[in-house]
Amino acid sequence: MPLTLSLAQSAPNALETSLLVIALAPDEPLSAALAELDAQQLGGVIGRTIARRDFRGGRDEQLHVSGAERGVLRVLLVGVGKPADRAVALRRAASVAARFANKIGVSDLTFVAADADARAVENVAVGLDMGAWKYTDMQTQPPNGDRRATLERATILASDTTAEGLLAGEALAHGYAIARRLAMMPGNVCTPDTFVETANDLAARHGLRVTVLGRAEMEREGMGSFLCVAQATPEDPKLITIEYRGAADNVKPVGLVGKGLCFDTGGISIKPAERMEWMKFDMCGAAGVMGAMEAIARMNLPVNVVGVIGATTNMPSGTAVKPGDVVRASTGKTIEIINTDAEGRLVLADCLAWIRRYEPTAVIDAATLTGAIVISLGHNAVGVFGSDAGLVQEVLAAGKRASEPGWELPLWDEYREQIKSDVADIKNTGGRAAGSITAGWFLREFTDGYPWVHLDVAGTAYSESDLVALPKGPTGTPTGTFVEFVRGRVR
Ligand code: BES
Ligand code: MN
Ligand code: ZN
Repeated sequence: MPLTLSLAQSAPNALETSLLVIALAPDEPLSAALAELDAQQLGGVIGRTIARRDFRGGRDEQLHVSGAERGVLRVLLVGVGKPADRAVALRRAASVAARFANKIGVSDLTFVAADADARAVENVAVGLDMGAWKYTDMQTQPPNGDRRATLERATILASDTTAEGLLAGEALAHGYAIARRLAMMPGNVCTPDTFVETANDLAARHGLRVTVLGRAEMEREGMGSFLCVAQATPEDPKLITIEYRGAADNVKPVGLVGKGLCFDTGGISIKPAERMEWMKFDMCGAAGVMGAMEAIARMNLPVNVVGVIGATTNMPSGTAVKPGDVVRASTGKTIEIINTDAEGRLVLADCLAWIRRYEPTAVIDAATLTGAIVISLGHNAVGVFGSDAGLVQEVLAAGKRASEPGWELPLWDEYREQIKSDVADIKNTGGRAAGSITAGWFLREFTDGYPWVHLDVAGTAYSESDLVALPKGPTGTPTGTFVEFVRGRVR
């Protein structure tokens, strides 16, 4: 359940809160209002704490101080460091604070940061909601008495109390929550049908149009690339198109495409058993499309957006596609399968070809595509590839604003050599060297007719260890990049 968020004018004197969170940069003094509250209600403890330099405002720094018997019950100082972008830093500080609130078991907090404009409020709202997020659908809850409270309500103190920032933050937070929930759901619970149900739910709530192709329809479309990945699973694969219309009918849409592998065993080129369970997250690109459609619809953005999700499960069986097999994509291109574990690009090939019929002005796809991107960029940057330099810059800027920074890798012609096949037009892997780039090149083969950018989120869409701001599991990436990109097109 998402947090209930509200805004209030900064008048902390009359404040009643279980936890007052004060976000501070290094050497930032308390505001006059907070200093007064400190003196009147808390005996000056915050001022002394800062004067003694017990708390210095560094990034992720946290200091918990006990408060008064009534009014402000507890205080948490959170550091924002010296950031290039203050709103991005506040989002992180807000997540840290919400996680802390859940840890000690308070159900409401008040967050205050100096000079919070609409964009800062938006980021704090998103950060609070994301830090408080938990996936408990599959766990039996302990009896009420034994359980710590969870954070349910948060108030953001801001000088500017226009609703704009809060509404945008709530819209984004809902999008992120949908993406993270889908991602966290186990592979036997989140199936291609789950994506269809989620899309239909979005459609019902926001008046979107949904089109679904199953195995039979994809066969009719000649989508041999997508279908070969799905030929060993009894689950019906789904190619889902979601259309949001916020602008006039004659305005061409932007396209968002997501890899939705509900589970990736590798198929006949099977993955090692160790840590294979993490491959339930191989649908984070698709989850990001779903989350972005939710946020965009909630924001009522005046643009047209078409989202495409390719959902299936990569399994080994007697009917599975084998290394050496040749398949034909819907564009007519033939593909030699070298490794059945390079399945995401096969699914996306037919999705990228499909979206062309919507005449998009630009297409961004996101996929947990390669382990190699984790080797190149680790867990702190999205791999960005594209056929259009301007669009690449646009997406890089969007990722920065969204706290999901990316880094461009080259799609030079020379790399194209690595996916030439002896028997077919192309092959689905290009060897170990530059594995993320050759995967990007493979996708590019199916992007005729529109400017295109590919996001490899294999290192950033989920975390296998606890982070400071978020628990291990899905981070929500690439939801925010998609949304910021679309918002950027409106401005
Ligand atoms: N889903 C994986 C990529 C992946 C790896 C995502 C690690 C998240 C974490 C993808 O389908 C895959 O298996 N890629 C192969 C490609 C190879 C066979 C060319 C890989 O990265 O090993
Ligand atoms: Mn794979
Ligand atoms: Zn995969």
